[in-house]
Amino acid sequence: MALLEIDQLTKAFGGVTALQDVAFEVTEREILGIIGPNGAGKTTLFNCITGMLIPDRGVIRFRGQDTHGRKPHELALRGIARTFQVVRPFPTLSLLNNVLVASGHRAYPSLRAAAAPFSTPAAREAAQALLARVGMTGEFDRPAGTLPLGLKKRLEIARALALDPALLLLDEPSGGLRHEESLQLLELIRQLNQEGITIILIEHNMPIVMGVCRRLVVLDHGVKIAEGDPSAIQRHPQVIEAYLGKAARG
Ligand SMILES: Nc1ncnc2c1ncn2[C@@H]1O[C@H](COP(=O)(O)OP(=O)(O)OP(=O)(O)O)[C@@H](O)[C@H]1O
Ligand SMILES: [Mg+2]
Repeated sequence: MALLEIDQLTKAFGGVTALQDVAFEVTEREILGIIGPNGAGKTTLFNCITGMLIPDRGVIRFRGQDTHGRKPHELALRGIARTFQVVRPFPTLSLLNNVLVASGHRAYPSLRAAAAPFSTPAAREAAQALLARVGMTGEFDRPAGTLPLGLKKRLEIARALALDPALLLLDEPSGGLRHEESLQLLELIRQLNQEGITIILIEHNMPIVMGVCRRLVVLDHGVKIAEGDPSAIQRHPQVIEAYLGKAARG
């Protein structure tokens, strides 16, 4: 059974149809890439999968269960985590506390329990391990707002991992990064996948997408125009017309 099944997914904002009858599946342990021009509906797709937006029509099933009407925190507890296109750490909190806040969600699911101190030695140790897992091994007390973008992006992934996800949605993780930072990120994504996390990756950086994904879904104006392995997608006339040709021309 597919880990995630999407069928006839449709979402409009006023007159703008952000997603139109989109359908695809995500198999357990794969890395699926989502590509397409600006405004194609990629982030809207993530917002629907994570329960931040309610689709107008269509079905999203996670582990065979319809997610309709489930709130983002319920879906997070079931194993769906995401990062945001524009990073959003708590800027004045330390690196460590940024991760602790995210882990608290799993450790203290009720409001009453949330009032308990979340910074136990065991929780701090677990948060440090998560930061180490994304390659951040020092300066745990540094305020997150002072980090360079590359490290903010890693922190964002550590925060998502604190939810111990089965499915991780990454929205343009390499956006704004330098070339070598992108390559390191590519390696991290591969590693997380090898550890058993299924990943959906939205990315404009074609070398990254083509290098890490075995399968791609292409959106354009809210419609899925192609799906297939990277080499087939690179040769697909409609994809070249709508996206790759433009990307190549800059
Ligand atoms: N909350 C919203 N209210 C109104 N319109 C929205 C909203 N969110 C997205 N849209 C519109 O829906 C369309 C799809 O937007 P979306 O952010 O999903 O695109 P995207 O593929 O992620 O683009 P990008 O590559 O620029 O991040 C766009 O036309 C956008 O303006
Ligand atoms: Mg987007």
